[in-house]
Amino acid sequence: METTLITQLSTWKQLQAHQQTLNTVHLRDMFAEDSERFAKFSIQACDLLLDYSKNRITSETMNQLFQFANEVKLQDWIKRMFQGEKINHTEQRAVLHTALRYQGNEAIEVDGHNVVPDVQAVINKIQQFVTQVHEAKWIGHTGKAIDTIVNIGIGGSDLGPVMVARALKAYYHPCLQCHFVSNVDATHLGETLKLLNPETTLFIVASKTFTTQETMLNANSARQWLINKLKDESAVAKHFVALSTAREEVIKFGINPDNMFEFWDWVGGRYSLWSAIGLSIAVMIGMDNFSKLLNGAYEMDQHFLNTPLENNIPVIMGLLGVWYNNFFGAKTHVILPYDYALEYFPAYSQQLIMESLGKRVTREGQVVDYATCPITWGAPGNNGQHAFYQLLHQGTHIVPADFIVAIEGQYDLPGHQDATLSNAFAQTLALMKGRTEEEARAKNMAEDILPHRLFPGNQPTNTLVYQKLTPNILGKLIALYEHKTFVQGVCWGLNPFDQWGVELGKEMAGQLLPEIQAAGAVTAHDASTNGLLNYVKAHRA
Ligand code: F6P
Repeated sequence: METTLITQLSTWKQLQAHQQTLNTVHLRDMFAEDSERFAKFSIQACDLLLDYSKNRITSETMNQLFQFANEVKLQDWIKRMFQGEKINHTEQRAVLHTALRYQGNEAIEVDGHNVVPDVQAVINKIQQFVTQVHEAKWIGHTGKAIDTIVNIGIGGSDLGPVMVARALKAYYHPCLQCHFVSNVDATHLGETLKLLNPETTLFIVASKTFTTQETMLNANSARQWLINKLKDESAVAKHFVALSTAREEVIKFGINPDNMFEFWDWVGGRYSLWSAIGLSIAVMIGMDNFSKLLNGAYEMDQHFLNTPLENNIPVIMGLLGVWYNNFFGAKTHVILPYDYALEYFPAYSQQLIMESLGKRVTREGQVVDYATCPITWGAPGNNGQHAFYQLLHQGTHIVPADFIVAIEGQYDLPGHQDATLSNAFAQTLALMKGRTEEEARAKNMAEDILPHRLFPGNQPTNTLVYQKLTPNILGKLIALYEHKTFVQGVCWGLNPFDQWGVELGKEMAGQLLPEIQAAGAVTAHDASTNGLLNYVKAHRA
């Protein structure tokens, strides 16, 4: 269906013209001319401070971005998502991760069915299970208490849980440890199995579809390992539970459906950590803390749903991303947590953002004539400084960055937090200001290498500040990035909730697998693929 691409909208054209007036304006001059920039371009909400004043914007820019958001009917889309409309139209599904953390009293309906009691029933089941594990009432086949859990999953069935579990290590139950296995090559599972005592290990098989090749292979190998060790197939019942939407597949695998924690097709994989997929998190940090995580997300949901665009954190961050992506030609976006507990947040965000927005046709199937998702990457702040920040400071690319900064760290070691904070803020200052020739000369820098000592600056950054990474704050932070992603999906006219782009490779892997396993030369493909397969076949034992 032919529709109007966003590039035809009047607000888009207006933004293009406006960008021309700012293209050569330097952030250091903007700050020099306006001492109120921080007051104008920062927001405190949901226990977060967002300072977006170090962006290449004026009040006029923000007004125009809000007008654009209105022209693409952003607020309608937000309501449609929260109300359970089937906005994931290519899969005919509602998008209701927000229902998983809903704390209100209204019904949320999908096909006329209120899902709120279903969500509560699974939360209750999780609660009972967590209590049983913590109180050593869920015991292993040989009568010993569980002290280790292993989440086997990949993509959304791994990245959310592993990121949150890592972030909230300080809240772990003292008698439990956890591992996450995702990769299909035997190293991941093999190295993990070496650490485990089969009598005290519980495997959590996390898969929405329960057909994902990597997860099923890992789960089957773990199952076989357990049976070999405990010498009894019935041991599986006490050492395997499943998190899935696919009851039949779970039964086929050999897990009793009583040991299955259900979720629903209206929960997208990369939005699923709030559902039964979060079981490993709940076991490790306890149900009270898991509830605080959900609560934090709910508070961000309410902020997103009810706050005017002008004060809405996910909206502002989403629109700023569009501003750089489409009007400054930024190709990437970097996420830099200055909180080591958020070590896996960039990896988690990569799936959230790039699987949602890495698309080239609009909802109506029209090929876009504008850039969509920026390449998203990142690493914990200080480590990044000693690795790739060189490019941010003196490279040739504009790289908008999110600095995520804790006021208090997880551990109180003298001097560490001051060092962290001064580094974070020094980086945003340096990226904004740069260093001019005049400044370099004033520092007596040698003339012959002067060009090497200059910094163009003018790199845009957002800084998000929170007190301390608690379950509640983490819930807010994750929900913020979920909603920011949704905002950009609306702006670019995409469906951010399907992921057809992962299918082709899966399909082809299915074709190549029997060819790798069969005897004889492979001739069915192009010369490169045949050559690679035949080389491997010739060189393996
Ligand atoms: O291959 C991508 C994907 O479909 C993700 O969207 C999903 O999170 C992941 O695979 C795992 O899927 P499942 O939970 O069904 O195993």
